[in-house]
Amino acid sequence: MDKKVAELLNDQINKELYSAYLYLDMANFYDDKGLDGFANWYEIQAKEEQDHAMLMYQYLHNNDVKVILEAIAKPDKTYKKLMDPLKAALEHEKYVTSLINAIYAAAVKVNDFRTTQFLDWFIKEQGEEEKNSSDMITKMELFGDDARSLYLLNSELAGRTYAAPSLVLD
Ligand code: FEO
Repeated sequence: MDKKVAELLNDQINKELYSAYLYLDMANFYDDKGLDGFANWYEIQAKEEQDHAMLMYQYLHNNDVKVILEAIAKPDKTYKKLMDPLKAALEHEKYVTSLINAIYAAAVKVNDFRTTQFLDWFIKEQGEEEKNSSDMITKMELFGDDARSLYLLNSELAGRTYAAPSLVLD
């Protein structure tokens, strides 16, 4: 595999694990506020990010690239209002989309179509991640100021269940 593409994919493993850590910290914030549904949403989000990291880890191994695991940064965002993590999540997903796009562009540059095909799943996933994050903000804008509505929204989010990624590597 092209050295640059391999490096970017290796870095992305770290970024995905950081994303998991960031989402776990958001779950932590909501748990502390007694909003177990919001916490559940972000705990599952954290698991999905671990899945993303593992898919990249496995893809590199399948292509005989040695993976180098670096330190995962501390999640250092501070949240005050209930809306704060939701906005931070959308910003973060937009950033991740830009990273995935950059890896894709690097793979296209060297005609690495195996990698672009692998990344197609992530391109679609980022579209979903951004939409979910944006929908959460809309719901909070609509219902967040009313205690009963917030209770119902929290109950709805408590119902989210984890599903393994639809992409499976051999
Ligand atoms: Fe791994 Fe939320 O993107």
